[in-house]
Amino acid sequence: MHPNKKLDKLPPKREKVETLEILRQLSKSSNALGELKGIAKTIPNQAMLINAVVLQEAKDSSEIENIITTQDELYKALATNGKRPTQVKEVINYRKAIFIGFDLIKKQGFLRLKDIETIQKTILENNAGIRKMPGTVLKNDKTGEVVYTPPQEKDEILELLSNFLEHFNITQNDLSPLINLAILHYQFESIHPFYDGNGRTGRILNILYLSINELLDIPILYLSSYINENKSEYYRLLNIVNKTDQWDEYILYILKAIEVTSNRTIEKINKIKELLNETIEIAKEKEPKIYRKELIELLFEQPYSKIDFVVKKLNVERKAASRYLKRIEQIGILKSQKIGRETVYVNTKLIEILKKH
Ligand SMILES: Nc1ncnc2c1ncn2[C@@H]1O[C@H](COP(=O)(O)OP(=O)(O)OP(=O)(O)O)[C@@H](O)[C@H]1O
Ligand SMILES: [Mg+2]
Repeated sequence: MHPNKKLDKLPPKREKVETLEILRQLSKSSNALGELKGIAKTIPNQAMLINAVVLQEAKDSSEIENIITTQDELYKALATNGKRPTQVKEVINYRKAIFIGFDLIKKQGFLRLKDIETIQKTILENNAGIRKMPGTVLKNDKTGEVVYTPPQEKDEILELLSNFLEHFNITQNDLSPLINLAILHYQFESIHPFYDGNGRTGRILNILYLSINELLDIPILYLSSYINENKSEYYRLLNIVNKTDQWDEYILYILKAIEVTSNRTIEKINKIKELLNETIEIAKEKEPKIYRKELIELLFEQPYSKIDFVVKKLNVERKAASRYLKRIEQIGILKSQKIGRETVYVNTKLIEILKKH
């Protein structure tokens, strides 16, 4: 037996989700996120940042599901056309799903049920859709014990989802959006509308919720590294809310995750900016003839670059593109690597920064 309550519709009682301790943590989390939003604007070329951070998030979020890949594998896969192992494919799908969701928010300013289905479908590449068959339960990975039974009937799932979307799209209370984010994330996971991919879809919804509420201009908050490092706590706290109406520890956890990961991303952005400036200086000084700002930016947008990318970005002949990359390698900014028949040029210092947290 695993007596969880029947899942209630939103919203929970205010006093359960807004304690003094939560308000204290909230101000730290809001400040960190605000700083992140500001700093992100100072990166000259937003594509540089988005590509890198989103890929990292895709990697970490998928790792929660035990889909383990390395940065190198991922970048190699993105730079070449070879066959991709399933694990790599799922991470790359995840990244694509973030971009699809983000574009939808930019375009419409809200999400519909079918958009959430699109996100989930993009990650898993299947058409299973919302659960129709009963039988899905959440088990403890290690013991196999059933820890939570989500709603089983399709009608109930749809009703809960529509209640979820009402709250996701328009704030229905005057709680902080970060507290609402935590509540919404719990609710989505507990509805557990899909057979699989609920965790990953839900973590994408978190990022999208921040953009709806204009707390970030680009999808760069990076919660999954924290969840990954504190995974059993994540499961434990979700489960407490399943069984009781004690929300506070769970909400504190999500707020803390926002603070910690905002700060990490701020640090990372600062390092990327520093490296970008340094790289520009070196290129200007040592290869003034071929130095072009767009070329250097490309090496940050695509840490694994190749001739094709340069041709496209700079609108030059293949021969020129190849010469540029070779020269840049000679002055120590890139390192070439053969993958199959292709040569890629790796911005190794950038990869080092991206790898850390
Ligand atoms: N007790 C619980 N109550 C509600 N949701 C839970 C509970 N335990 C785990 N979850 C959620 O279920 C997710 C796992 O569901 P599912 O396997 O469908 O998603 P996934 O994306 O494939 O996996 P993962 O989240 O492990 O990457 C977890 O990430 C978590 O968000
Ligand atoms: Mg799964």
